Amino acid sequence: MANVVIVGSQWGDEGKGKVVDIYTEYADQVVRFQGGNNAGHTLVVGNEKTVLHLIPSGILHKGKQCLIGNGVVLDPQVFLQEIENLKQKGYLQDDAQLVIDSNAHVIMPYHKAIDIAREQKSGARKIGTTGRGIGPTYEDKIGRRGIRIADLVNPESFACKVREFLPEKNFLLEKYLGGTPLDEAAILEEYNAYGRILAKYVGNTSLLVNQGIAAGNKVLFEGAQGCLLDIDHGTYPYVTSSSTVAGSASIGAGTGPRFLDQVIGISKAYITRVGEGPFPTELHGDMGQRLREAGNEFGSTTGRPRRCGWFDAVALRYAVRTSGMTGLAITKMDVLNDLATIKLCTAYDYQRQRLDEFPNDLEILKQCTPVYEEVDGWQSDLSEAKCYEDLPEKAKDYLRKLEEVTGCPVILISVGPRRDQTIQLENPFKD
Ligand code: GDP
Ligand code: IMO
Ligand code: MG
Repeated sequence: MANVVIVGSQWGDEGKGKVVDIYTEYADQVVRFQGGNNAGHTLVVGNEKTVLHLIPSGILHKGKQCLIGNGVVLDPQVFLQEIENLKQKGYLQDDAQLVIDSNAHVIMPYHKAIDIAREQKSGARKIGTTGRGIGPTYEDKIGRRGIRIADLVNPESFACKVREFLPEKNFLLEKYLGGTPLDEAAILEEYNAYGRILAKYVGNTSLLVNQGIAAGNKVLFEGAQGCLLDIDHGTYPYVTSSSTVAGSASIGAGTGPRFLDQVIGISKAYITRVGEGPFPTELHGDMGQRLREAGNEFGSTTGRPRRCGWFDAVALRYAVRTSGMTGLAITKMDVLNDLATIKLCTAYDYQRQRLDEFPNDLEILKQCTPVYEEVDGWQSDLSEAKCYEDLPEKAKDYLRKLEEVTGCPVILISVGPRRDQTIQLENPFKD
């Protein structure tokens, strides 16, 4: 039986949500294992669009169990809102479909306030975070002063922890960051109400996943963000605060690495980034604008315009290496429909030296310029292509080129946002 990990292989927003929605058909359980509502995963079924920030992208499939693992950080307000939106649309009619691990950490109001105030104070050196409190929540988790879901649903334990931690947070907020201190009673009242509603979704997801695997279930692990935003392997400090590479699925879902059979990296046919940080193939002029418009490149979470650039094979090879990818899903091929020529970066130039490997040192990366290869565009509409044979020869050439320069086989091609705009070449769940 195969279990499959889906990760972003660029700087996020590659179309992970869409691919997870498609692969859920073959899976029994879908697990989010890291990140929080900094993620925005878009699913389009027919004409209906759903954007999920916390709930796994398998939730539109009735009867498939969706789990939020211990590795996730959860904002209860956003979580409950997302549940309500889904129920209104007729999904999640059975509450047992959704389980959140009691060890997942809670994003508190002070985490959001600190995230925003720090960014403001940093000025030009800001990270460009989503302002959702992700970094400060993971800091507290590692600092052993976090509040977990188990505490949230236990009012005594919750009050005790808020009383212990809030004075230090208010001191930081008020005296160092120049913000407004938060009121303890207001936090308790608001969060106790969340705890009461949320309690029915709380469980032990590690146990459920492992029991599922033992019973022969197929598990789909849903990553958020992308490999280049990984806290260790990404373009630090311009990264998110969790491990986004495939190995994180084991820790964030509470199962052994030997159960992660396939790793599928999701990548656009070009590349985008939201927030600050180096981006060797970024296009600043008309071409960048053209990709942004054709690809509707505006953030699903914050609405910020995404920075756009040509496909970066150096970065992608690095993502293949750090996540051990076994296949690639290439999305947004249709965005390149009109282009007469397409560039792809196959190496970097650093002080007149050719680099084939992504540099570890950010100071080197900042000085790298792309070495491009140029290929012909297909200049026709791919958006109604239903199978590989429907693709024009030049689109097939581009896909073959991507396989060659990344060393990883393409197993899925996406030609539009809708579920039915997908060409599957291989099923990663097959034995
Ligand atoms: P995620 O964070 O990786 O799940 O990706 P997002 O949902 O943030 O961003 C991907 C965006 O591209 C969404 O608006 C999707 O609906 C859209 N999308 C996904 N695949 C395709 C595709 O093949 N073509 C086009 N045009 N849009 C796509
Ligand atoms: P999905 O799952 C794209 C980026 C932010 C910022 C950096 C740190 O939809 O692909 P954070 O709020 O996490 O502390 O911000 O990470 N970022 C994302 N960019 N897609 C995402 O998620 C992202 N989640 C965080 O823009 O640069
Ligand atoms: Mg997104």
